[in-house]
Amino acid sequence: MSNVLISPSILSADFASLGEEIRAIDAAGADMIHVDVMDGHFVPNLTFGPPVIKKLRPHTDKPFDVHLMMSPVDAFIDDFADAGADILTVHPEAGPHIHRTLQAIRKAGMKPGVAINPGTPHEIVDPIIDDVDMILVMSVNPGFGGQSFIDSQLRKIEAFRRKIDACGRDIILEVDGGVNSEVAPRVIEAGVTAIVAGSAVFKGGVDAYAGNIAALRGEAGK
Ligand code: DX5
Ligand code: ZN
Repeated sequence: MSNVLISPSILSADFASLGEEIRAIDAAGADMIHVDVMDGHFVPNLTFGPPVIKKLRPHTDKPFDVHLMMSPVDAFIDDFADAGADILTVHPEAGPHIHRTLQAIRKAGMKPGVAINPGTPHEIVDPIIDDVDMILVMSVNPGFGGQSFIDSQLRKIEAFRRKIDACGRDIILEVDGGVNSEVAPRVIEAGVTAIVAGSAVFKGGVDAYAGNIAALRGEAGK
């Protein structure tokens, strides 16, 4: 087994029962709750924004790991803080001033994260690594759950592992997209400390959630 953090993506939950779904994954052993915000512009899909997140906040004490797939971001940062986001992760392509955005997220009381698309080089993080508390490696193109893991992102995870170790700060290295119990050991070996999983957690109904989360940690048979 490993100490990897599991952050189930509620993109794969039943949207008609989001509060119950969050209580269920909390009880099933989730470490964080991954919340995918999509705007239909930065990515070709739409989900929800701060008012929905605020309504979900009382359903768990676990950190809200909020992944913004939207552009622009800056005008909404205080709304996400007010809604109860703990980690707020943005894509560098979402606006012209990523450093300013990360500063604003920290100033608003949240942990800043940066999300790296499959086609974005890891070097983009070098000038901002001291300003982030999470690096999220997208192992699918953002916008949809249920896609297949892109193997080439393993090398990028390894590159980030080396960068984080060299910088010495406690930065969460999270992978997002297509991770199931077969892929999980490979991303853990490459150096992640957190795994996002949507379809792999929410498959099989509520009674399967604890086993699904355990399987991602490598606790087979529990
Ligand atoms: C995709 C989202 C992911 C997605 C992962 O744009 O960022 O968080 O929900 O879903 P799975 O685990 O099904 O690939
Ligand atoms: Zn995500």
